[in-house]
Amino acid sequence: MNQKVRIRLANLKDLAAIVEIYLEAFNKKSGGSALARDLEEAEAKSPLAMLYYVAETQSGVLGYISACPLPEAMDIYEIAIRPEARKQGIGRLLMNKIIDEAFSRKIDLVMLEVAVTNLPAISLYEDFGFRVYGRRKHYYQDTGDDALLMRLDLNLEPMLA
Ligand SMILES: CC(C)(COP(=O)(O)OP(=O)(O)OC[C@H]1O[C@@H](n2cnc3c(N)ncnc32)[C@H](O)[C@@H]1OP(=O)(O)O)[C@@H](O)C(=O)NCCC(=O)NCCS
Repeated sequence: MNQKVRIRLANLKDLAAIVEIYLEAFNKKSGGSALARDLEEAEAKSPLAMLYYVAETQSGVLGYISACPLPEAMDIYEIAIRPEARKQGIGRLLMNKIIDEAFSRKIDLVMLEVAVTNLPAISLYEDFGFRVYGRRKHYYQDTGDDALLMRLDLNLEPMLA
């Protein structure tokens, strides 16, 4: 990536870009209806608000990640990058941000689900040390794919000492 990539919290102005990226990445025709409410809550800094970060350059928003910060686990919902911006390290930057956020909130577990056929995403997660701990049969209604349940246990001890 030649241009500098900035990772920042999303706001309502990012709604259109995030929906566009979501629809394209997940091959959907509609959806993202909960997103406006999620972004409003995030802006209002509600304690249980979903977290949304975007990756942007001067050309605009290229990707996003969403996660639910529960006390017992940071649950990653979605990560998606515009097709033309993939394989340039942006997914890695967004994952780093969410894991940093788990550390700073003292949440020692990060979890996610991924389709067993989604090799780029599985490879990204494995790179961060996520490991498979379960499987849900035919979890994805549109494809019938199984979901792999993956987790990353964070060692908070050095921070707590
Ligand atoms: C999965 C996704 C987010 C990765 O984003 P990205 O910006 O392309 O990823 P990065 O460039 O940061 O890659 C980081 C690592 O992920 C893995 N990876 C990414 N794309 C890959 C691919 N096409 N094939 C194999 N491994 C891949 C590699 O380990 C890579 O490290 P490397 O570059 O040193 O080989 C992106 O492909 C995407 O948006 N996919 C569609 C949406 C989706 O399926 N999201 C996940 C489910 S919520």
